[in-house]
Amino acid sequence: MFDDTPTPGLTGSAIYAELCAAADGITHGESDPVANMANIAALMWQFLPDLNWVGFYRAIDGELMLGPFIGKPACIRIGWGQGVCGAAAASGTVQLVDDVLAFPGHIACDAASRSELVVPVIRAGAVIAVIDLDSPMKARFTPVDAAGVEALAQLVSARI
Ligand code: SME
Repeated sequence: MFDDTPTPGLTGSAIYAELCAAADGITHGESDPVANMANIAALMWQFLPDLNWVGFYRAIDGELMLGPFIGKPACIRIGWGQGVCGAAAASGTVQLVDDVLAFPGHIACDAASRSELVVPVIRAGAVIAVIDLDSPMKARFTPVDAAGVEALAQLVSARI
């Protein structure tokens, strides 16, 4: 059993320091990408409040393919450049969207989603996946969240 309960009362970047340490511990020495993505999605769900969906889309044959996640069933394939996830994949940059209803082309997988953070996972200069976080709260995500999930993406890029 893994004891990966977040310390109560943590805020801001301290949450991500603990989340990254837990992700490092649980994926260290494990080479199976599906197992690692599944555990990382579970850790994000456990550590980060006010989410309704969190998980991975993988870059396969020029499109994004649904990977391990927590939340309602979601769109399976997303075109490169389509929606918030596709924009992150095509540009290789973090997409922080305060109001998904105002994002042209946003793909509504869960109608409850109001804000979204998508972080590309980059290995050897190429986008190999994106980490997608959705919240039912408007403007749930801040630059601290973006930096924290980027650190996590960098940490796990060789393990997924
Ligand atoms: N909203 C995303 C699609 C994925 S779901 O939110 C899980 C997008 O616009 O790319």
